[in-house]
Amino acid sequence: MLPKYYEFFNPVKINAGVEALETVPYELKLLNAKRPIIITDRGIVGAGLLEIVLTGFDDSDITIGAIYDQTPPDSSLKTVNDIVKIYNENKCDSIIAVGGGSPIDTAKGVNIVISEGDSDIRKFMGVDRLSKEQKPLIVVPTTSGTGSEVTLVAVINDVENNVKMPFTSNMLLPKVAILDPRMTLSLPPRITAATGMDALTHAVEAYTCLQKNPMSDAYATAAISLIRKNLAKAVKTGKDVKARFAMANASTMAGAAFSNSMVGAVHALGHACGAIAHVPHGNAMAILLPHVMRFNFDKIEKYYAELLLYLAGEEEYLNTPKKSRAKRAIETIELLNQKLNNLSGMPIKLSDAGVKKSQIDSIAKTSMNDGSMLPNPKDLTIEDVIKILEAAF
Ligand SMILES: [Fe+2]
Repeated sequence: MLPKYYEFFNPVKINAGVEALETVPYELKLLNAKRPIIITDRGIVGAGLLEIVLTGFDDSDITIGAIYDQTPPDSSLKTVNDIVKIYNENKCDSIIAVGGGSPIDTAKGVNIVISEGDSDIRKFMGVDRLSKEQKPLIVVPTTSGTGSEVTLVAVINDVENNVKMPFTSNMLLPKVAILDPRMTLSLPPRITAATGMDALTHAVEAYTCLQKNPMSDAYATAAISLIRKNLAKAVKTGKDVKARFAMANASTMAGAAFSNSMVGAVHALGHACGAIAHVPHGNAMAILLPHVMRFNFDKIEKYYAELLLYLAGEEEYLNTPKKSRAKRAIETIELLNQKLNNLSGMPIKLSDAGVKKSQIDSIAKTSMNDGSMLPNPKDLTIEDVIKILEAAF
């Protein structure tokens, strides 16, 4: 059924394929930029990925104004302010983010401070608080999961006050996303598996949340098919360029889907597992997804049944009796989790991901205040959350 009203906005130019990185200097030129700062982390430098990015500038007349390679795993207020200083000192005029979620979120945070001309980023926390055109931002993801290259969200950690600050604005959308499979070839199997399950969760939640719409459905289902065919392959054979490229596409599609609908309770509980027990986001997604689906089952069995086609393929969809399809969709995700666990050791229980039984209550409490709870198709009480966490333990 068509919703009464929805919006879909995805203005990010996507340059995708082997050697897509070579287009970055030209894209900067089109954006009138001459001195970009590169924001990345030590892991990217160590894996030789920054080198590949820099090689793309060999024949160009663009000057790299500065390189910041100390981004921590959780983007922080201090890091944002440090980078702003470096950006200004080196008279940069644009930003290239190279990395997973943290360098990308950090780059969006830096962009807010520079573009708004205000050193206190906290003023811009929340929805639609930005007023100035942002500096050109080009994003080069090095994982296939977050979808941050096409989302309007940034989360920056205020470590001193122990607050995760969310920023949401269409202005935060990057100008260009570069999907170059060379950037994910060296990603370890466990991280490939977990980030891939994050992408799958984006797609499943986008397809089933209260703000689902026909456009986000199209991106979500296409992403799920690509993940079915390629995630295990990319985990098993990291150097499989085709599988890596397909996963990069899937992750970006799933990002565009949830950026234009929403996520749901898997993300609310997962954020809390991250905050209280430091469970990496992708691991929390993989573990919680089937359990939250079971909870939502009676409300949206129809949508889960539809998803079996993309999760399991045409043959299995047709061979599964209509009334069993939704249940089979959940089982298919559990089987994928099991497969990824066998291939990479990716945890599939909260107790194996570092959660202690004594933390369940505070995880539940924290998750109740998470914005991702609101668009979940079925309301959750704190008792429901505790039950889900215990089942996933
Ligand atoms: Fe996610």
